[in-house]
Amino acid sequence: MNANNFSGEELRPLQSIEQWEDDLLLRYPEEEKKAKEDYRNYENPGRDTVREFYRLNHKYQTYDFVQEKRKEFLQFSRKEMPVWGAMEFLNTLVDDSDPDIELDQLQHLLQTAEAIRADGHPDWFVLTGFIHDMGKVLCLFGEPQWAVVGDTFPVGCRFSDKIVYPEFFADNPDNQDERYNTKFGVYSPNCGLDQVSMSWGHDEYLYQMVKDHMPEPALYMIRYHSFYAQHREEAYAHLMNDHDKEMFDWVRKFNPYDLYSKSPKPPVISELKPYYEDLIAKYLPDTIRL
Ligand SMILES: [Fe+2]
Ligand SMILES: [Fe+2]
Repeated sequence: MNANNFSGEELRPLQSIEQWEDDLLLRYPEEEKKAKEDYRNYENPGRDTVREFYRLNHKYQTYDFVQEKRKEFLQFSRKEMPVWGAMEFLNTLVDDSDPDIELDQLQHLLQTAEAIRADGHPDWFVLTGFIHDMGKVLCLFGEPQWAVVGDTFPVGCRFSDKIVYPEFFADNPDNQDERYNTKFGVYSPNCGLDQVSMSWGHDEYLYQMVKDHMPEPALYMIRYHSFYAQHREEAYAHLMNDHDKEMFDWVRKFNPYDLYSKSPKPPVISELKPYYEDLIAKYLPDTIRL
């Protein structure tokens, strides 16, 4: 199956990919804000599009789909550009159909990174905040929204009912396939997440892009930041080894910066650019292949 086989509605169920993250905030509100129960009954016109988004995500993210996407995208043969250029490329991802977006992609990344910097974390952590969503350039290659953003989860074994909208996995063919529908599926107990194929999206794509250049905790944060079924719900500990479990402290440390750093005051890009250019130069190669 390739991206061209999907209809327009199937490619773009959301008005903009930010709707997924807006919905995450309702599901995982900051401590002192809304209780989880409120989310379930939340009257929000965006909820139907998010539901439809997850219906498609859960139906089409099969083990085979993921292997195909890995083959298609992990050759990095589409573009080569400096990291800052890739950020600007990502920032061309604007959606006219959603007049409500106040902050573009680059601003979300800068706010995440600046919040990490303000808390005095190491510079590679700040850089992680700055690049963590760069993999969303997949959208600019015509990929379906549900194969770029959304919560990620392991494929090749039983889908946990801790994943958002678990009922939609009934339409996923792997759910009826005995190779894939047992607790461990194609994996073995505590085999380690590196052995596990995650549903395809911007996390794994960016991880593969930068895996030779960033410290290991940064790589965990990048690779698993949308894996809410584990870092929030702990539904897949049986696939993790002890090292994964240790490293997930970093994934959990990162998550609040991703979710709760949005502020209505947009960062001034020109003021911040020199600092981030230096950080990029310290850790990443001159150009990066997409
Ligand atoms: Fe992300
Ligand atoms: Fe993000």
